[in-house]
Amino acid sequence: MSSWDLMVAKQNNTTVFIREFLKNPRQIGAISPSSPYLTTEIVRQAGVKKAQTIVEFGPGTGSFTREILRQKQESAFFVGIEANSRLVEILKQELPQATILADSAENTPTILKDYHQAQADCIVSGLPWASFPPELQDKLLHAALASLRPGGRFATFAYLQGLLLPSGQRFRKKLRETFSRVHIGRIIWKNLPAAFVYRCVK
Ligand SMILES: C[S@@+](CC[C@H](N)C(=O)[O-])C[C@H]1O[C@@H](n2cnc3c(N)ncnc32)[C@H](O)[C@@H]1O
Repeated sequence: MSSWDLMVAKQNNTTVFIREFLKNPRQIGAISPSSPYLTTEIVRQAGVKKAQTIVEFGPGTGSFTREILRQKQESAFFVGIEANSRLVEILKQELPQATILADSAENTPTILKDYHQAQADCIVSGLPWASFPPELQDKLLHAALASLRPGGRFATFAYLQGLLLPSGQRFRKKLRETFSRVHIGRIIWKNLPAAFVYRCVK
C-alpha cells in the first residue's frame, strides 16, 4: 500500500468509527481509534511476540489487530472477537488473513474450543470497560480468566480521566480481585485521551 492509500484508509476507518460510536456509544466507548503509541504499548505488554494462542477482545477498526498480526509468530493462532457486525465486515475486507468473528467476548471459552485451542497465552482487549455495567464487566472478566492458561496475560487499557469515575475505580478493583498480578503501565500522554495499560497475569 502506498503512503497515500494508507492515509485514505486511516481516514475512512476514523469516519466509520465515529459513525458507529454515534449509533451505539456504550458499545464502542471511544470517539476515535487508539493511537500508535497506545497500540505499541498494549501489544508489547500482552507478550504477543512469544505467544502461540492470541485473542483480541473488541478489535474495532483494527488498530491493535494490525500490530498483533505484524508481531505474532507465523505459527501462532489469532482470533479477534468483535460485537459490532458492521466493523466485522470492514475488518474482514481489510484484513482477510485474520480470523475475525462477529460475537461477544463473553463466548471466548467456547470459541477457543471450536478452534481446538486449549487456552490462550494472551488476550489483548480494546473493550470500553468504563461504559459497561458491573454485571457485564464480571461476565467478560470471567470469560477472560477462563480462557487464559495459568501465567497467561490479559492486557487492557483505560483512559486517565476514567479513574476519576466510580466505574473506573470499580474496574481496577475487579482486575485485582480476578488476576493474581496487576501491573499499571506508564501514562501515554500522546493518546487522545491520555491512557495507560493494565497488564494482568492469571
Ligand atoms: C474502543 S473500541 C476498540 C478500539 C480499537 N482498539 C481501535 O483502536 O480501533 C471497542 C470495541 O469493542 C467492541 N465491543 C463492545 N462490546 C463487546 C463485546 N461484548 N464483545 C466483543 N466486542 C465488543 C465495540 O463494538 C468496539 O468496536
